[in-house]
Amino acid sequence: MSFAFDAPRTKRFKALVRQYPDRRSLALPLLHMAQDQEGHISRDVLLALAEMLKISPAELFDTVSFYSMFNLEPKGKYLLQVCQTLSCSLAGADLVVDHIGAKFKLKPGETTADGRFTLLKVECLGSCGTAPVVQINDDYYEKMTVDKVGRVLEKLS
Ligand code: FES
Repeated sequence: MSFAFDAPRTKRFKALVRQYPDRRSLALPLLHMAQDQEGHISRDVLLALAEMLKISPAELFDTVSFYSMFNLEPKGKYLLQVCQTLSCSLAGADLVVDHIGAKFKLKPGETTADGRFTLLKVECLGSCGTAPVVQINDDYYEKMTVDKVGRVLEKLS
């Protein structure tokens, strides 16, 4: 299987190439575009993007694996990322993780059998003043409690 951007993303790619003559500078934007389209960075995506960027797949893999926002494996429709760094941990992040895990019978790193929810414990999400923080796809949910996360999950279920 090979990878290609869809028509709107191909147009965006061409515009970016004009904007950034050094293709290496396009690595992060292209990875975001590919993940938005495919849901994760598969081997085929990695190989195709490396060719577009004119860099080696190994070099691009280093970039992908450095940033936690890129997924090398398929994730659920809803990616539930619970911050585990100090502020969130002290404010009760473990209770939130335990609640999500019990509701969906998941351990961190796992995806529900129906492919809807993936639970991850992640490092600081950069919103320590509103701990504990849960990121669900692109949205932040702050000052989370077990009750609050329960209500959010009910709306998604
Ligand atoms: S410690 Fe959780 S957002 Fe920073």
